[in-house]
Amino acid sequence: MLRALTAAAAAAIAIVGVAFAAAEAEHPQDYPFSFDSPVGNYDMAAVQRGFQVYNQVCAACHAMEHLSYRHLGEEGGPFALYRVRDHETGEMTMQIGKPEHGGTFVDVVDNPYVRAIAEEAIISDIDPNSGQLTDRPGRISDRFRQPFPNEIAARASNGGAYPVDLSVITAARHGGADYIRSLLMGYSGEVNGTLYENRYFPGGWLAMPAPLGEGVVAYNDPEVPQTVEQYATDVAYFLQWASDPHMEERKRMGIVVLAFLVVLAGLMYLAYKQVWRGESH
Ligand code: HEC
Repeated sequence: MLRALTAAAAAAIAIVGVAFAAAEAEHPQDYPFSFDSPVGNYDMAAVQRGFQVYNQVCAACHAMEHLSYRHLGEEGGPFALYRVRDHETGEMTMQIGKPEHGGTFVDVVDNPYVRAIAEEAIISDIDPNSGQLTDRPGRISDRFRQPFPNEIAARASNGGAYPVDLSVITAARHGGADYIRSLLMGYSGEVNGTLYENRYFPGGWLAMPAPLGEGVVAYNDPEVPQTVEQYATDVAYFLQWASDPHMEERKRMGIVVLAFLVVLAGLMYLAYKQVWRGESH
């Protein structure tokens, strides 16, 4: 019996091995993202830069239909605005992204950064007076602008391939953020018709041309390198946040629940000692 089971297990492992070999894809590089550990948070500066990369590069082909501009400025979002008191001067200042201590969240309706991001997007809509299609600046309540009106148009512009929606991509792909980061760095430069060689893509060839190159996005912070690796890492941060915007809150709650259970276990033990005091058992 045991031998049969062992043989079956060995056969199963061999089959899985062949399946992986057939896919030819390299295992994604394991990058130490700040959100990896059970208590890890998002590096909000990286999420902000990642949005910039998405907005200036990826958004030309990929929609994120589950996101509206206002999500960027909601609590826990990369452009959330907080009112904070300066320790030295005592004056109130504004800060983007969660401050270390305290701070009052400013409603997204009053957030000029998110409003500016939305207004930069040109949204096509129906004119309320003429009933004709017109272009207008985006509002914070708008969904992220879609690059193509429909799937047929998207395929027609991309050699027949469909640029998937990126709203929940890190949850939808094995390897999550590590896979996205590796994929963007994995181009060999070989081109075959409309296909591009990439060692992290199952099958080795995909229809997306290498979207990133040195210096394609200009970061505000001169300390941050403008390299393909940095862009890939930052956009992976942003896509991870987009797939799981409430992670920080959930982890915080997990810690509270664990602390509560530890205290409860202690109390239960004391109660048990009290109830059975002097009894022989
Ligand atoms: C010129 C258009 C274009 C741009 C710009 C572009 N993509 Fe793509 N992308 C595509 C197409 C087309 C596919 C589908 C490829 C295929 O199925 O062979 C794709 C596929 C993908 C996939 C899915 C891979 C998989 O496992 O199925 C991811 C993830 C992705 N792109 C991320 C990005 C990111 C992040 C950016 C910005 C840094 C970006 N793309 C920029 C066209 C583009």
